Amino acid sequence: MCGIYGYIGINKHDDAAKKVVEGLGRLSYRGYDSWGVAELTDSGILVKKDVGEVPTKKPAGLGASAVAIGHTRWATHGGVTRGNAHPHAASDGSFVLAQNGIVENYVELKAQLKPQFKFKTQTDTEIIVRLLEKEKKSAATLREALRATFLQLEGRNTVIVLADDGTMVTARNGSPLVVGRGAKGALYFSSDTLSFAGEVSEVLVVENGQMVEWNGSDLTVYALDTGEAVPLKFEKLTVVAQKADKAGYDHFMLKEIHESPDVLSQVVAQDLVGMKELARVIDTARTVYTLGSGTAGIASAQIAYYLRKIGKVNTISLIGAEAQSYYDLFGPGDVILAPSQSGETADVLEVLELAQEKGVQIATYVNMSGSMMTRMADFPFMAGAGPEFCVMSTKVFTSQIAWGYLLAKLIAGEHTEGTEVLAATRKALRAYLEDPKATVQLKKLAKKLVPASSIFLLGKSQNMEIIKEGMVKMIEGSYNHAHGIPAGDLKHYAITLMETGVPVIVAISNDEARTDSISAGIEVQSRGATVIGIGQGSVAAFNEFIELPDTGETAAIVNVVALQLLAYYMTVELGNNVDKPRNIAKSVTVK
Ligand code: BG6
Repeated sequence: MCGIYGYIGINKHDDAAKKVVEGLGRLSYRGYDSWGVAELTDSGILVKKDVGEVPTKKPAGLGASAVAIGHTRWATHGGVTRGNAHPHAASDGSFVLAQNGIVENYVELKAQLKPQFKFKTQTDTEIIVRLLEKEKKSAATLREALRATFLQLEGRNTVIVLADDGTMVTARNGSPLVVGRGAKGALYFSSDTLSFAGEVSEVLVVENGQMVEWNGSDLTVYALDTGEAVPLKFEKLTVVAQKADKAGYDHFMLKEIHESPDVLSQVVAQDLVGMKELARVIDTARTVYTLGSGTAGIASAQIAYYLRKIGKVNTISLIGAEAQSYYDLFGPGDVILAPSQSGETADVLEVLELAQEKGVQIATYVNMSGSMMTRMADFPFMAGAGPEFCVMSTKVFTSQIAWGYLLAKLIAGEHTEGTEVLAATRKALRAYLEDPKATVQLKKLAKKLVPASSIFLLGKSQNMEIIKEGMVKMIEGSYNHAHGIPAGDLKHYAITLMETGVPVIVAISNDEARTDSISAGIEVQSRGATVIGIGQGSVAAFNEFIELPDTGETAAIVNVVALQLLAYYMTVELGNNVDKPRNIAKSVTVK
């Protein structure tokens, strides 16, 4: 995915490029491979772009205009090069275009356009630019040319176009787009509301299948299918700007892990009326699904575990990118619970949109305000975990699984006990995180693990998804291979990889899975592996054991926080970019 930004100032002295660079900086969580800013000057459109993160201040040579657009890229088609950076310009320089999304039929379109155009980049974005050039020849306005262009694109895309006559046109089908209006009338176009929250008082959420045009004096919304103008509806902006502040921690990731106990308080404070309503729907549901991608996909699996184990609800957990085989099974009476930090993940939105059309009820648990998932949900819940700036999700994952636990306890008629267990978990977690000995132990272990070419993690029952999340954090941060496996399953195949010195982490608690988990550790140790236990109830036979507070049903929540910390110290040890690891982004709004 990527971040798109546009600014139209209220007078010619407005520095649009400065506003766009600042906005892109707040969108860089969406991708930081390269950036670009284009401003409208008296002598035409001036473009500055380069690889790397959005600059912290406006590049020299920009600032002479009140109208500009910009883009921060997460490469999907075409390498990370300056030439592939957006915005991309028309051959005659009459307009520039930036895109968030993927043109799924770009090969066919490129073949049609090849006879007329010499392509300069490997991006699918350039296809849109050349197609727009072609359509512009026969359309009366840029907006109508963009409409004709956009209707030929397949896939989830949003584009913004700045023309040399001062027109700005956008079109949305999939990737998010919002328009903010400042008190004095300045206009902001962006991929999310947070990026301009501090500067606008009202926001227009552009729906799928809509275009928004600024023709130099008026802002108008059009329907893509008919081309007709539709009513403009700005709503009061309720989102509060969030300052990105490390509060003395070395990295956002460390700060956000240390906020985990507060996050558990937020979960306990969740709206019980809303949860009871959802519990009632789950009780009478035909099929209950959980759904997420990446870390949120693992959270959805842990939520499904709690719903089965504690709530006795037959729950199926799905990964956003791999739910197609269920499409024909979705129907009225089904419920999908979707945790998501951003609420904008394309893989998940695609499934939710299709399921909702089939009569499935949608519950979402989202951290960022005003997201597409929240807007479409029948039961929207907000994590309220506070801003999570590190691309690697930690405290929000903890919030998601704690909410799933509490929902399961509510369904089991044990909500009060659930809140008490979470309160005790919060206290135990706070004490653990503040214990200097705990930090020293994890740092030492991190140093030992970093040289390993592959790390294995075993877990069972409540710890099964937790070790997968440990795997994800280690991979995301250390760019090294880690492999999370059901404790009992390793002996059926991966045990062939066990030899002297191979590190195997076993997440273990005082629960029904304890004996089998110990056996799995001993089995791999007999093949030479170095077995490190992490959790509750030290195992003398293991090579090492990281003892954590025992909170019973929520022990896995404590264990995952320790695994997040371990992955953090490994990342720091390697000197990698903790808060913006390479190649990934905080929210993937493309498929
Ligand atoms: C990935 C992020 O791009 O998207 C992960 O790098 C995240 O950290 C995943 O878990 C899902 O995102 P979201 O916003 O739906 O939780």
